[in-house]
Amino acid sequence: MQRLLPDPGPTTVERQLAPYRPWEEPRDERPLVAANFAATVDGRATIGGVSGPIGSVADTTMLARLRTRFDAVMIGAGTMRAERYGRLVPNQEQRERRERLDLPWDAPLFTAGGGRVLIFTASEAEPPETATSLRIVRHEGFVNLVEALRHLRQERGIRALLCEGGPGLHGELEGGGLVDDLFLTIAPKLAGGGALRILEGELPSVADLELAWLLEEDGELFARYRRR
Ligand SMILES: NC(=O)c1ccc[n+]([C@@H]2O[C@H](COP(=O)([O-])OP(=O)(O)OC[C@H]3O[C@@H](n4cnc5c(N)ncnc54)[C@H](OP(=O)(O)O)[C@@H]3O)[C@@H](O)[C@H]2O)c1
Repeated sequence: MQRLLPDPGPTTVERQLAPYRPWEEPRDERPLVAANFAATVDGRATIGGVSGPIGSVADTTMLARLRTRFDAVMIGAGTMRAERYGRLVPNQEQRERRERLDLPWDAPLFTAGGGRVLIFTASEAEPPETATSLRIVRHEGFVNLVEALRHLRQERGIRALLCEGGPGLHGELEGGGLVDDLFLTIAPKLAGGGALRILEGELPSVADLELAWLLEEDGELFARYRRR
């Protein structure tokens, strides 16, 4: 792996991430929040409804290592479902699913028994028994992400949070100015079609980013952006 910016030269994922210490930079009311996405050159965040075919082994390594730099990982319900079932669902169905607290309860996240899962939801439905320790935090109507992040920081001691998507959740977080870092892998591929991009939804204004680093391996680019 090569570092193109800053200070060009050879590097590795491990070496690059070693000095990256997001837990030292929590905000007053919330953790430091980073988002991580992989996209094709034409900006698609899925191929065949899932993100797996986009990135290389190096991208998987980056994701796995990034997780170790954060206290917690946040995933949107749409990502949880699509990555399990490999398809997207229309809005009306999504609303009904929300009322039912519809998640793939047979996914390893819930059945493997390791770690702790915290679900923020506006649903009043009860989850099934899970092998993994599960806590539910209920919000009225919709999940207020400012409140959810405050809860993570103040009630759970989370200093740094990695959001692995999807594009809908990313749009809401960026729309609220709640993302500090964006890790973006650009795979040397064109996907075409109407697939989602890494951010879906309206932003109140254009967000200005600065490029904190740029890495390359086999034509794949690994960028880290910071909100200006
Ligand atoms: N390329 C990549 O790096 C990458 C990364 C992640 C995901 N993806 C892809 O992105 C797709 C999924 O993205 P997505 O945008 O559809 O879904 P998403 O952002 O993962 O999740 C959106 C869902 O989360 C719940 N949600 C979010 N904000 C909420 C709020 N404020 N209150 C209540 N519920 C809230 C809702 O669930 P309910 O529908 O249950 O109400 C909503 O439909 C998948 O195809 C996945 O493969 C790609």
